[in-house]
Amino acid sequence: MATLAPARETQNAPSLTDERIVYLEGLVSQARTAAAVFTQYTQADVDRIVKAIVLAGLEQAQPLARLAIEETRLGVLEDKYLKNMVATEFVYNYVKDKRTVGTIREFPERGLIEVAEPIGVILSLTPITNPTSTVLFKCIMAVKTRNAVIFSPHPNAWRCCLEAVRIMYEAALKHGAPQGVFTCLESHDLQDNAYLMHHKDVGLIDATGGPGVVKAAYSSGKPALGVGPGNTPVYLEKTADLDMAVVDIITSKTFDNGTICASEQTLVIDDEIHDVVLEKFAGLGCHICNQQEAELLGRTVIDPQTGFMQPMAVGQKATDIARMVGLSVKPKTKLLIAPIQGVGREHPLSVEKLFPVLAVYRAKSVDEALKVCVDVNHAGGLGHTAVIFSRNEEIIRKFADVMNAGRIIVNSPGSIGALGGVYNDMVPTFSFGCGTGGGNSTMDNVNIYHYLNIKRVARRTPAHMWLRIPNQIYFNMNAVENLRQFPSRSTIIVTSAILEQIGHADIVRRHLPPETHVHVLVIPDAEPELKVVMQGVETLNFYKADQIIALGGGSVIDAAKLMKLKYESPDADFDELGAPFLDIRKRVVEYPAKKINQARLIAISTTSGTGSEVTPFAVLTDIERGRKVTLADYSLTPDVAIVDPQFVMSMPKGLTADTGIDCLTHALEVYVSIYASPYTDANAIQAAQMAFHYLPLAYENPGDEEARTMMHNAACIAAIAFANASVGVNHALAHAFGARFHVAHGRANALMLPHVIAYNASVPSKFMPSPNQRTYVADKKYATLADLLGLGGHTREEKVNNLVAAIEGVLDRLNFPRSIAELGISKEDFERAMPELSKLAFEDPSARTNPRMPLMSEVVELYWSAYHGRGVAQAAGASQHQTV
Ligand SMILES: [Fe+2]
Repeated sequence: MATLAPARETQNAPSLTDERIVYLEGLVSQARTAAAVFTQYTQADVDRIVKAIVLAGLEQAQPLARLAIEETRLGVLEDKYLKNMVATEFVYNYVKDKRTVGTIREFPERGLIEVAEPIGVILSLTPITNPTSTVLFKCIMAVKTRNAVIFSPHPNAWRCCLEAVRIMYEAALKHGAPQGVFTCLESHDLQDNAYLMHHKDVGLIDATGGPGVVKAAYSSGKPALGVGPGNTPVYLEKTADLDMAVVDIITSKTFDNGTICASEQTLVIDDEIHDVVLEKFAGLGCHICNQQEAELLGRTVIDPQTGFMQPMAVGQKATDIARMVGLSVKPKTKLLIAPIQGVGREHPLSVEKLFPVLAVYRAKSVDEALKVCVDVNHAGGLGHTAVIFSRNEEIIRKFADVMNAGRIIVNSPGSIGALGGVYNDMVPTFSFGCGTGGGNSTMDNVNIYHYLNIKRVARRTPAHMWLRIPNQIYFNMNAVENLRQFPSRSTIIVTSAILEQIGHADIVRRHLPPETHVHVLVIPDAEPELKVVMQGVETLNFYKADQIIALGGGSVIDAAKLMKLKYESPDADFDELGAPFLDIRKRVVEYPAKKINQARLIAISTTSGTGSEVTPFAVLTDIERGRKVTLADYSLTPDVAIVDPQFVMSMPKGLTADTGIDCLTHALEVYVSIYASPYTDANAIQAAQMAFHYLPLAYENPGDEEARTMMHNAACIAAIAFANASVGVNHALAHAFGARFHVAHGRANALMLPHVIAYNASVPSKFMPSPNQRTYVADKKYATLADLLGLGGHTREEKVNNLVAAIEGVLDRLNFPRSIAELGISKEDFERAMPELSKLAFEDPSARTNPRMPLMSEVVELYWSAYHGRGVAQAAGASQHQTV
């Protein structure tokens, strides 16, 4: 608290005698027993005792103040009395309604409760400057938190502290506190403290005192609350209420003769008001030193060897200090004010002075004033207190920014202000934490919460889920007719050359309201490049489009999503928006909310697979960097989706198979995703059933309108699910493999699918963290699906095997290659690609929602299984581990 060198910090103290050890052990044993008994007390018990000891302390506030003055010869009786009142009444006012026993706080909406646990035995070191008030304060904190305290007062203040402890202890006992709850060392030395600080039964050291004591506490290896010294700068800025400031500073700096370490040490005054301020100080009984007097003062009250204040001056009156120094001052002089020209060793008065001597600095500018305040703050007062008087909010905030202080006191006295509760709403304390700058464990006003172990009981809180899809989805044959209900001045149809050639764009055009101006923008039918997107944006701008119709497969729809994003928000940065994330609700980047244009996006899918017409995803190919960026945000979801099978009737067989198996993979993956919900399950199951039945039919009989319709709907239904719960490792494997070996997405999925189902149905070597899943359910869900598909089987294993076999059956009917080897990729090439493949697959966002966490090694195994292919159902039955 003060940079004094207390007597107990003498070196070479004799070792403890056996007798002394017995005495100290007795204190600890008593405290330990008291603490154990205390744990059984209720909040009502504790509150009753707290009130009783507060009243006892209040009643004895004046006698204790007198005792402190008599013993320490520091300070002012009236102020010590006031401190004792603050330490009891104000502290009580703060703690009385606080819960400190059992459950102390509840946050039901967050599933959190906080439970208080006492520390046990606290060793409390108290200072010479505020001896009895600190004891009263700590007794109240200890009872409120059900802790026992062994007090170790400053050796030159032990009698008054002993009396304060006695008063509190007797009142506590009378109202039911455990025997031994407070004890106090009588005359003692450094060895006693060292012994107690290292005692196994002492749970916390609360050291308020000189730096030596604080350092010893922190060095003990015990949890410690130690508070550092101060050196409070006070900036008197020209807009301040000068009369108030002068009175406040005098009040504060003379309070208990300046012994509170938060009191003002160096006053920095703006040039413009400097003279008038000093006149005001002089008019109120302060002595303004001339240069010579200031130098004399500095040489006398500051030790030239150490640069610290002289103990003999601490807590003395201004007139006594003047006499000590040999200054001639008026009889009732309150404060000695001494000009300084800088901060540091060559300006002795710029350090902490716990007596009524205030250094004053004339600053030519705000910047200079702030710099000097920072210098004072750094000259021994880091983390402690700083004071400003100003009406300029900007300067007050700047001051708060540049000061390293736990208490920035504004337009009020530093010392009493820092105590809290009198001039402001800070927590009342007699222990000022100085943060790491002051080498302390806290920067708070130390309070009851520092005397508790607070346990957090955190309940499992399932993540909120959602189902977000386009506002309107129109499906079945001729659903395109619904375009009539969307008025538009200027519509751009984004499509591919082939779809335009076969007349699909014309069908769309025909169904638009007749007054609509329509422009057809033909783009390549491949995953969109930035260049294509930007050209599209130019077209949208040129025609001032208010409606975009994406007519095509996934790539075309993705391109239109990106064009819309960039058209509406030109500042959107695809690179940044494509940043990886774990949870879409917590991700780092935000999609632009500001739009300079607005266009409705209607997506008409012409394949039955990707479901891009209802998803929030868009893949962008970055040619320059040779990579793909997946953008995901619900703002990308089209406003309207049209799922009209007339646009897929002419789909080639290969495309039907590739996109159809993509749809089946979506359904099977989202069904077991860690984000799966009953909402997505319903869609996943429905889509899977439809795809199992109708995909082979649509493939084998391309003209089968029912099969085409059902597959088109199935793709959209599966996408509704995976737009909200994502997919899994199958997609992760397929993305990396497809990109590396130029294999169509659906085909790549097909190669992995049986292997991934078998993998997900086996006991995970590593579970995926997932608050929404109660247990591992992938295998159970697959078995349920097998039942729904009527695949037979008695045990879960049999059902899963039958599901895998059914998938293999579908793949065979679609004439898919059943191994990567069949694609003509050599083992050597595959092996060479494996490090990169497994890395990319592992990093793929799809893998993060897989029900089991795919280990790197497992990703490699899965790839090799897919390479060799076939026979998964049998393997799953024979050796794919046991199912859960
Ligand atoms: Fe897919």
